[in-house]
Formats: sequence, C-alpha cells, structure tokens
Amino acid sequence: MEQVILDVDTGIDDALAIAYAVHSPELNILGITTGFGNVSEEEATRNTLQVLDILNVNREIPVIPGADKPLSGTHIKAKATRIHGEDGLGNSGLPLPERKPLPSEAADFIIEKIKQYPYQVTVIAVGPQTNIATAIKKDPDIVHLAKRVVIMGGAVTVPGNVTPHAEANIYADPEAASVLFESGIPVTLVGLDVTMQTLLSSEQVGKWSNVKSAYNDFLQTICNYYIDAYHQFDSSLGGCALHDPLAVGVVIDPSFVKAVPMHVEVDLERGESLGNTHEAKQGKRNVEVCLEIDVDRFVTHFLQRIT
Ligand code: RIB
Ligand code: CA
Repeated sequence: MEQVILDVDTGIDDALAIAYAVHSPELNILGITTGFGNVSEEEATRNTLQVLDILNVNREIPVIPGADKPLSGTHIKAKATRIHGEDGLGNSGLPLPERKPLPSEAADFIIEKIKQYPYQVTVIAVGPQTNIATAIKKDPDIVHLAKRVVIMGGAVTVPGNVTPHAEANIYADPEAASVLFESGIPVTLVGLDVTMQTLLSSEQVGKWSNVKSAYNDFLQTICNYYIDAYHQFDSSLGGCALHDPLAVGVVIDPSFVKAVPMHVEVDLERGESLGNTHEAKQGKRNVEVCLEIDVDRFVTHFLQRIT
C-alpha cells in the first residue's frame, strides 16, 4: 500500500479526489492537509471534514489545517466561487462537520510523516503548493526522505486556465511551486496538459441517480454545479475536468499517463506571464511532466471507484 498525504484546497474536484482516494485500497491516507486556494483555508478545512463525514469514513484520517496565504504573504488570486460555488462545494448545503481538525499545522504534519516513514511517503498536492514548500523550507532533510510529490498544477504545453499562461494552483503561489521544483524532491506534474482531457459529462453523472443515498445526492449536486460552471466558461467542452482526481489516479496507476522528464521553471515576475510553467532550455531535469493520458481507462476507473 502506498503511504500518501493528500494536500487539498477543497473545492469540488478536490472533494472528488478525496472520494476516489478513500475508495482506493492501494492508498493508505496518512492525513489530509488543507490550505487556501479555491476557498479560504478555514473553508477548505470545513469542506474536507464535511466530505469525510458524507463519505462515512470510519478509519482514522486526520485533517490538518495549513496555509491561509501564499509564501509572499499577499494573495494574488481570488477564491474560485464561480467554479466551485460560494461554499466551495457547489452550494450543496451540507451540515456542519461532526469531526474536528487536528490541533497541528500542515507543514509540521508533512515533516513528521515523511520522517516516520522514510522513502515511503507520496504527497499528492492538489491545491497551491504552499504547505509542501513551507515544510521543505522548515526542514530541508525531507527532500531526501520523501518518496515523491505528485501535484495537480501547471500547464507546460497548453494555455493556462486563470491567465493565458498560468494554471490556478501555480498562479495562487508561484514562489511555493518554484521552491518545490528546485528542491530536489522527485516531482510529477499532472497539469492542464492532461487534466483538460479528462471530462466528466452530465450523462455520466445522471446515471448515479439510480441509487439513492445522501452521498450519491451530494456527488450529483457538486458535479452538476461544476459541469454548469465549465459550460459557462467554455460551452464546447461538454463536461468538467477531473483535475484533482487525475493526480490521485496517477499514484494508483502510473500507466494512466506518459510522463516526460524536463527542466521546468515557474515565472515569478509580477506581469502577464506570472505563474507560467515552461520548459527551460538549460538545467537539470527537475520534474516529470505528464503529457499523454489514456482518458477512457482513467475515467472508467475513477467512476467505478467513487460510486
Ligand atoms: O487548475 C485546476 C486546479 O485549480 C484544481 O486543483 C482545482 O481544484 C483548482 O484548485
Ligand atoms: Ca484543488
């Protein structure tokens, strides 16, 4: 079993990624760390606890609050209420969570678990990379002790989704992405290059209405909201992108994608290319960039696991 930490900014596709991970016996979830991004850090923590409640998870999965702002100290990007709803979960109206977060800090938890399970821990980071970058800065030893970090983030060969050049998670904290990329930890980048091909349609979501349960209702509510938001953004797409679930999928079965080693840099200058992730002409290869995906096999696997 793979020892994993999920690092989230729970939003709709984060919720789907959590559900996918919880339903996947290949993964042992050591904990879920939270941070700002789609919503505030506080809302991401609440949403994560709510998702674990509705999933009825009865094994121990601690939730640990983390960064409420980027490394620079100033927010560059607003919350993503247009895509994820006012509450970050498609205005699904879930009851307040029954479980509580750990009275700890995300970066400390990441450091502790990487040291407790040397060379075994994979961090799956599907929000801005602030928590993992903070952990690296606090204790650089973890660079050699972590197995790898798989992030949903970046757009190396395709346009961005918050600016013409930048993907949302990188744009929200470009300095954190740069710290991670330059750290020496093995990094896999699951970016828009592949995630924009993994579309979930309303026809697929409609099939879940055959089975009645609070969890199924929740899945339908958040996915329909997400599909509508994507439709308003680009009506030609025909569905919503399974960004964060794909990062989990790549850890469960790396053969879903083809990844290529590259030297990727993040543009840090405040200007139109801020947050751009591009292949540098020179320098040691520092990340594996997913460039091809077996869409049908991944989407089928995801759908079988979450329902
Ligand atoms: O660009 C897609 C990413 O931004 C996803 O992680 C989504 O949840 C948002 O955070
Ligand atoms: Ca996310």
